[in-house]
Amino acid sequence: MQGYPKPMKVFVTRRIPQEGIRVLSKSGVFELSVWDSDEPVPRAELLKGVAGVDGILCLLTDRIDSEVLDAAGPNLKMISTMSVGVDHLVIEEIKKRGMRVGYTPDVLTDATAELTVALLLATARRLLEGVQEVKSGGWSSWKPLWMCGYGLNGSTVGVIGLGRIGMAIARRLKPFGVKKLLYTGRAPKPQAAEVEGEHVTLGRLLSESDFIVVSCSLIPETRGLCDKAFFSKMKRTAVFVNTSRGPVVNQEDLYEALSSGQIAAAGLDVTTPEPLPTNHPLLTLKNCVVLPHIGSATYSTRGIMAELAATNLVAGLTGKAMPSELAL
Ligand code: NDP
Ligand code: DGY
Repeated sequence: MQGYPKPMKVFVTRRIPQEGIRVLSKSGVFELSVWDSDEPVPRAELLKGVAGVDGILCLLTDRIDSEVLDAAGPNLKMISTMSVGVDHLVIEEIKKRGMRVGYTPDVLTDATAELTVALLLATARRLLEGVQEVKSGGWSSWKPLWMCGYGLNGSTVGVIGLGRIGMAIARRLKPFGVKKLLYTGRAPKPQAAEVEGEHVTLGRLLSESDFIVVSCSLIPETRGLCDKAFFSKMKRTAVFVNTSRGPVVNQEDLYEALSSGQIAAAGLDVTTPEPLPTNHPLLTLKNCVVLPHIGSATYSTRGIMAELAATNLVAGLTGKAMPSELAL
């Protein structure tokens, strides 16, 4: 039909919650193609799927690099990721090509902060070990010196990256009786006053904290930040928790620190790689709790993330302001 605009093509790299699909379908402007599986799209299918599209809705498991951008071709105008983390996107190249990026900050902050607190408590109070002892018959009696861990009351907590999630974690931890809250980051944050947070050097945070929570984004400055030197400055009784991204931690150095008693315990929601191979040395340690990257995994949060990612995509492709556009 002459003059009738061609529908814009969109590739969605995974089966996502209905809330997102509903937004895309209702918009009526897309020819939608979905990799309709719970498992990640194989690389070859991704490259095929994006050919000729105007927009991509992707997940943190999809590496969107120059090869994908080239495979998509000149129509590609925007990428919407159903995540707040954007380390899987080649931001500089996307920027150079004049494309826009949508992401999902804020809507997952509470869920991720809640999971971080749960992981910290599970690690510090040895919940998984305790459950295992019950199941295996290792629980012989109530014993004064058995299954002791570390409590938050009167403690010093160090937050690496007091951003949206870092603040939400701090707010939740304070009522446990935390005495001092330290944080590091590029600059002091005015909002830290709400949790009486003190901006300190990394060295001071490491040597004074009883609990260290990593909630920064993965950028070149934070890649490998938690290494041998880092762990060697921590207290031997300190608990380390990472819910940011796996590559912030040097896992060989963490294994060494945990197995030698350099630090007390670690809780990880993120690892390198993901999934962590079942024969990975970290999984042999009783003082290491590893979760499968479930920070934002509540039913409602995932629905809202999908809806926001879809809304960003529709807005970006129809020339409207996105609710959450990444400043490039
Ligand atoms: P924000 O951008 O609000 O926070 C990131 C913080 O990291 C900022 O405060 C930033 O400080 C800080 N930062 C940057 N560089 C450093 C550094 N060298 N040392 C210390 N801090 C630094 O993002 P969010 O809080 O929304 O999310 C943070 C990250 O959490 C995401 O990027 C993602 O990787 C991860 N995440 C993980 C989830 C999970 O399921 N486990 C769920 C959701 C997010 P400044 O402001 O000074 O730049
Ligand atoms: C993100 O959004 O970056 C998380 O890792 C998953 O929700």
